[in-house]
Amino acid sequence: MANELLRVEELSTSYGDLRALWGVSLEVRENEIVALLGGNGAGKSTSLRCIAGLHPVQSGTVLFEGRDLRAVKPHRRIREGLVLIPEERGIFPMMSVEENLKVGGFTIREKAGLETALAWVYGLFPVLRARRWQPAGSLSGGEQQMLSIGKGLVSQPKLLMLDELSLGLAPVLVLKLLDLLKEIHANGVTLVLVDQNVKKILSFCHRGYVFENGRIVLEGKAADLAADPRTRKAYLGR
Ligand SMILES: Nc1ncnc2c1ncn2[C@@H]1O[C@H](COP(=O)(O)OP(=O)(O)O)[C@@H](O)[C@H]1O
Ligand SMILES: [Mg+2]
Repeated sequence: MANELLRVEELSTSYGDLRALWGVSLEVRENEIVALLGGNGAGKSTSLRCIAGLHPVQSGTVLFEGRDLRAVKPHRRIREGLVLIPEERGIFPMMSVEENLKVGGFTIREKAGLETALAWVYGLFPVLRARRWQPAGSLSGGEQQMLSIGKGLVSQPKLLMLDELSLGLAPVLVLKLLDLLKEIHANGVTLVLVDQNVKKILSFCHRGYVFENGRIVLEGKAADLAADPRTRKAYLGR
């Protein structure tokens, strides 16, 4: 069995007085594609933010390659190979495509290493190479999505977590992005995906966790979750 990459144990946190997560536990193994499912406000984004170090953990632990991340700052987590593409995308619209990618590559000190990483990303997303000198804000929605993924990839992460990848994209673009993710996965990147499109995402992932009201209520192989009526019910909950 593949090595464990990420382990979250009994994670709890709040926004002010509002408790958002109640003892969330999950794990991701090397080379897996894992889905986090559940309706709006179920706690998926908060979990990802806690894992990335962008939201404080009140209790519980986050282990990456067996190492406790509690004292590790967000940018250090990126250096360690743990990258989140947030729902907000995190693109700088006034900066060029290439400048945005270089921000993503802040972890790479050697110029040659950065060039190699950029070439890898441009190989995955030729459209970004074609538009490398354009301001990021001038790209189409789908292209900006690719840029945000590309920006996350420049640091050559071990684990890439994508929050609401397909939000606002036309179905044909979603299929294209999933194809690209397949290629990224084939390049050795482990993936965690959050997406509202349950059917599509479960046909793409190996395993999944279903969130409801800040808790994980169901977990298992993607095919089992797809067949389980409780998966659908979780989306109607709240
Ligand atoms: N920035 C925020 N401030 C206050 N409450 C928040 C904030 N972000 C999320 N929440 C609350 O935390 C809970 C979990 O939200 P979230 O993690 O965004 O869910 P999901 O990503 O599954 O839609 C919800 O009750 C939501 O209203
Ligand atoms: Mg969310």
